[in-house]
Amino acid sequence: MESLLQEARRQTSDAGVGELLDRILAVPRLHARLINSLSRMEYVGARKMVKARHTDSMNSAGLQHLLEEVGHSLRLKRAAIKVNGGSDEGIETFSAEHTLAGDAGEGYLQGVDRGCEGLLMELKLPEPKRSEVNYVLSSLAIEVRAEAFYPIYEEALQRAGAPFSVRSILSDELRHLEEMTTAIAKHLPEGGESIIDAALKLEDQCFRGWISAVRKSLD
Ligand SMILES: [Fe+2]
Ligand SMILES: [Fe+2]
Repeated sequence: MESLLQEARRQTSDAGVGELLDRILAVPRLHARLINSLSRMEYVGARKMVKARHTDSMNSAGLQHLLEEVGHSLRLKRAAIKVNGGSDEGIETFSAEHTLAGDAGEGYLQGVDRGCEGLLMELKLPEPKRSEVNYVLSSLAIEVRAEAFYPIYEEALQRAGAPFSVRSILSDELRHLEEMTTAIAKHLPEGGESIIDAALKLEDQCFRGWISAVRKSLD
């Protein structure tokens, strides 16, 4: 897992995320919309979880994961309002005009989800096992990215003297990543590592797509 994280951290800083964040954080109105995009992505992640998880496999850790993702969404929404001067004007909803590349942010999650679905096709799993394994694989790829992205964001927040921190979100995501790493080992057949590698590769493509959409939205 350590080497996966190192690779994702290298990719994320190579994508110029730190500099991009510095540009956005310098303009509170833009920063509030970016935080609202992150809030939307946490919300869409939680919604995907609700849809993917069958009652037969839902357990205490699964409920906790869901609760925490909704909690991340709410915490980020409140941070967006704080950065926006205490008002939700212009960031009230998750619509395109209230977010920064928000549609592309949601597209990132859809892309990872669909890509993982494609990778798992060859295993010919019956439902509801297929959607359960898809949840674990796509969550794994997304949690690896969260562990690469949020530390870079946290550093940018500190540089800018922002009035909030994402450290507690980061520690939840690390626990989720550990859970998904354990779960995927149970679900994939022997030689399943190649599916994980492929999932991480396609996630990287989706992440770059989102970052370039954020960059474009500043032009
Ligand atoms: Fe989260
Ligand atoms: Fe998570």
